[in-house]
Amino acid sequence: MAEITAPRGVKDVLPGESWKWAYVLDQFRTLAEGFGFSEVHLPIFEHTELFCRGIGDTTDVVEKEMYTFEDRAGRSLTLRPEATASMVRSYLENRMASGPQPVKLWCAGPMFRYERPQKGRYRQFWQLDVEVLGSVNPLVDVEIIELSLELYRRLGMANLEVVVNSVGCPACRPAYRKALQDYLRPHLGELCGSCKSRFDRNPLRILDCKNETCKALTEGAPDVMDSLCDECRDHFAAVRKRLDLLGASTRIDKRLVRGLDYYTKTAYEVLSGDLGAQNAVCGGGRYDNLAESIGGPHVPGVGFASGIERIVLTMEQQGCSFGREPSTDVYVIAVDGAASDEAVKLLYALRRQGLRAEMDYQGRSVKAQLKTASQAAFACFLGSDEVARSVVAVKEMATGNQEELLFDGAAAAIRSKLARQEDRRP
Ligand code: HAM
Repeated sequence: MAEITAPRGVKDVLPGESWKWAYVLDQFRTLAEGFGFSEVHLPIFEHTELFCRGIGDTTDVVEKEMYTFEDRAGRSLTLRPEATASMVRSYLENRMASGPQPVKLWCAGPMFRYERPQKGRYRQFWQLDVEVLGSVNPLVDVEIIELSLELYRRLGMANLEVVVNSVGCPACRPAYRKALQDYLRPHLGELCGSCKSRFDRNPLRILDCKNETCKALTEGAPDVMDSLCDECRDHFAAVRKRLDLLGASTRIDKRLVRGLDYYTKTAYEVLSGDLGAQNAVCGGGRYDNLAESIGGPHVPGVGFASGIERIVLTMEQQGCSFGREPSTDVYVIAVDGAASDEAVKLLYALRRQGLRAEMDYQGRSVKAQLKTASQAAFACFLGSDEVARSVVAVKEMATGNQEELLFDGAAAAIRSKLARQEDRRP
């Protein structure tokens, strides 16, 4: 029978990598909580309608990339392709508007998109996501962008570029849309197949098409900045001014329109120079009309999401530190059968002290066990002699120093030794 493998575009995050993910998640959690955000756990699947109406029917995500299925009662459900629409749904459903505003939430977890897999692009991927709901203040946009930049600073990431744009609002976007269509209409026949179909339904997306001909054709296209209404222009200026004040260097990219239709005003991405084609480590912006599009009242919002896979890839490529890889603190070796009960007792006494303690379960030779123990900070030896004298031999692997400790209290003593060793670590 053929061996079953994982579906295309999904990957196992194995122990060699999962500790790096844990480090990134820990840093993100600490930072988000420090900025006043609280964690929510959102469902992995939602009514398909939420994403169709929230993200937009004419986006690639909704048209081509959703994992949609019928449940046993015939309801159409979809594995979440992103978290923003769910976050807004949760805000509305849980009546969060009735408390103090804005509401600042974060979540992390897997998202699902049926995209063509390549480096940095998977069909199941993890996002770190933050959203602020209930405020139109441009300072909130700044807080979101700064939070993402501070995360990358703390992780030691470099070679990043922050691109920002304003995509306007329902008051000024129709005029820009028309200006763009008028500009492109004479060249309609030259656009790529996807852009031809975008021309009527979603012409702004033509601006970020990667096709060289489309890129060249949009080079001289009208600038969105010239079409912004006063409110959007002032908002963008306020965001940029405060970002400048904080020393964040940003580049305006008039082509940045983002792939999800809910954006209004601020749109931004952080690009890594070390990722190749899938270079966005993070994307986000303001979405003041999303709540209404899913049937709620007007609730302004702004947020970002960052892919863990792309963060880890960038960090690995740049040789960033992930903290210390977890390793065994103490390896317990029963030198002969007579000591096996005492060895088990010691193993659990060490674990109760919070130490990462291990022993052999495979009946391997003492020599083989010693080899494993060489990776640990300490090795403990117990034989019939030690058992008879109620002691344990403890060896510090880095120095080779060995001493005997009384069996009772040995675990606590080893914990103190380990703490001293940690203190000496550079
Ligand atoms: P997005 O740009 O679609 O935005 O995704 C955000 C980030 O998720 C990307 O910059 C990338 O790091 C990661 N990502 C997206 N797709 C994949 C994939 N197939 N494989 C690996 N990583 C991926 C959103 O999802 C919005 N919800 C962001 C947002 C939050 N806007 C406002 N609030």
